[in-house]
Amino acid sequence: MAESSLTHLPSLLLSSSFLLILLSIIITTHDGGVHGIEERQVLHLQSFLWEQKNTIPSCLTPLKPRQRDGATILEMVLQDRCTRKSTMNWSEKQKQRLVSDEAHVKSLQSQIRRAESRKKIMDISQAEVPLKSGIKLQTLNYIVAIQLGGKNTSVIVDTGSDLTWVQCQPCRLCYNQKDPLFNPFDSPSYRTVLCNSSTCQSLESAMGNAGACGFGPPTCNYVVNYGDGSYTRGELGTEHLQLGTASVDNFVFGCGRNNKGLFGGASGIMGLGRSMLSLVSQTTNIFGGVFSYCLPSAESAASGSLVFGSDSSAYKNLTPVTYTTMISRPQLPTFYFINITGITVGGAEIQSPSFGKAGILIDSGTVISRLPPSMYSALRSEFLSKFSGYPPTPGFSILDTCFNLSNYTEVEIPTIRLLLEGYSEIPVDITGVFYFAKPDASQVCLALASLTYEDDIGIIGNYQQKNQRVIYDTKASKLGFAREPCSFF
Ligand SMILES: *[C@@H]1O[C@H](CO)[C@@H](O)[C@H](O)[C@H]1NC(C)=O
Ligand SMILES: *[C@@H]1O[C@H](CO)[C@@H](O)[C@H](O)[C@H]1NC(C)=O
Ligand SMILES: *[C@@H]1O[C@H](CO)[C@@H](O)[C@H](O)[C@H]1NC(C)=O
Ligand SMILES: *[C@@H]1O[C@H](CO)[C@@H](O)[C@H](O)[C@H]1NC(C)=O
Ligand SMILES: *[C@@H]1O[C@H](CO)[C@@H](O)[C@H](O)[C@H]1NC(C)=O
Ligand SMILES: *[C@@H]1O[C@H](CO)[C@@H](O)[C@H](O)[C@H]1NC(C)=O
Repeated sequence: MAESSLTHLPSLLLSSSFLLILLSIIITTHDGGVHGIEERQVLHLQSFLWEQKNTIPSCLTPLKPRQRDGATILEMVLQDRCTRKSTMNWSEKQKQRLVSDEAHVKSLQSQIRRAESRKKIMDISQAEVPLKSGIKLQTLNYIVAIQLGGKNTSVIVDTGSDLTWVQCQPCRLCYNQKDPLFNPFDSPSYRTVLCNSSTCQSLESAMGNAGACGFGPPTCNYVVNYGDGSYTRGELGTEHLQLGTASVDNFVFGCGRNNKGLFGGASGIMGLGRSMLSLVSQTTNIFGGVFSYCLPSAESAASGSLVFGSDSSAYKNLTPVTYTTMISRPQLPTFYFINITGITVGGAEIQSPSFGKAGILIDSGTVISRLPPSMYSALRSEFLSKFSGYPPTPGFSILDTCFNLSNYTEVEIPTIRLLLEGYSEIPVDITGVFYFAKPDASQVCLALASLTYEDDIGIIGNYQQKNQRVIYDTKASKLGFAREPCSFF
């Protein structure tokens, strides 16, 4: 599989302005073939001085969506592009991202534990240690443009929640957003969802808390607490939704009148979870319950793409798509779980009793993947044995394996592959192996972290999903992966 990518390398080099992507795959046989083929990739460090580059493209003016047969393709950009130049230096920013990520994972874990212990999530805010507002949403990095009621607006993409919502006028509490607020009174296609409707009742199964009845018109009032202090409250409505060239009538969404959190200038959230209220479920008749994305790396100026529909001609994958089965966990209708059966590091398979056990969550809103302790420590020692001789440096936040690579212009790093049930795999892109704590490469860390307990829920985060086509087929209950350099074109 790796060999086939070699033929695509020249075009990849030309098309990418991101120098870190200057990768090559070198396959050499060491140790007399004891471990079979040792896979390595070359990371060019001297090219990593992109911090100075100020070629950040505009954030919320996405390119025109495209359509290819049955697929609708939206440009996906990083929210980072939209936040104004902050006073934080590079290293502080990188650390803050990890602190936010850890808070996000903690709130996810407690949400999962509560749901699995069958307790109703009546009021998350009571059960939750209050964290800094908007922490979860800070790690949800990717934005797409949609049209709601004929108005262009931008929303954050989240595979870990179901309800799509935007801030709505009149607003009791709204954070600053770039686009004008949605005004239902301006839109002839807007309809209020009534509280005695089956749609309103579906809130309960989707989100664990039933919609309350409003007064005056008996509206269907919703509350979504993201478990970190950020929330949206408002009423359900239906509206005409335009995704690129595809039209969705009577799309159920949240008209948020009381919203708090760091949503970075976006108007709200696009919920791509698994339950019946999510955008995926609501558009099954149009897109067949299939969507996919390619997440660009933060350092690259490239855009990613969010594709609705199963037409694979919309993909630009370099390797064949391999599919794995989604694991069903009825207590957790929102989340996507898959079965991780092994990991190879530089071609060598590591051992852990947790492979094939509980299922691992794949989440677009977690940055760094979290592995059970036995899996992480086996991976770490295999990695260290294959990446030896480099001077170690202290850990950085949740990352405990760091190196000072400031003396090197390039390093060969062992390739990491996550093996999944059904001979499927996630080939971790070279940009997803190391996290740069310092821009001069004097503190470069293995971008993976250990869970506290062996039976905590493992998570595949967005850092390890970069430059890959990740396909969610909710109808066939399968997830597909293939290498793809992300670009909207
Ligand atoms: C909405 O966005 C599309 C492209 O994404 C653009 O062609 C159109 O002019 C925009 N409409 C408005 C009213 O800004
Ligand atoms: C960045 O911030 C950290 C922590 O506040 C500080 O130790 C470091 O010296 C700063 N670096 C630069 C280049 O300002
Ligand atoms: C819901 O209530 C409205 C009046 O508030 C009534 O007109 C409608 O028939 C009711 N619908 C159902 C499904 O009971
Ligand atoms: C994961 O896959 C392995 C190998 O096919 C299988 O033995 C195991 O039961 C699966 N685990 C789960 C949780 O589905
Ligand atoms: C970098 O190279 C210099 C000169 O060869 C050497 O003295 C130093 O120990 C090296 N430092 C690291 C961190 O590799
Ligand atoms: C990294 O190595 C370089 C070269 O030896 C050295 O100058 C620098 O102080 C080291 N930095 C850290 C953070 O260890």
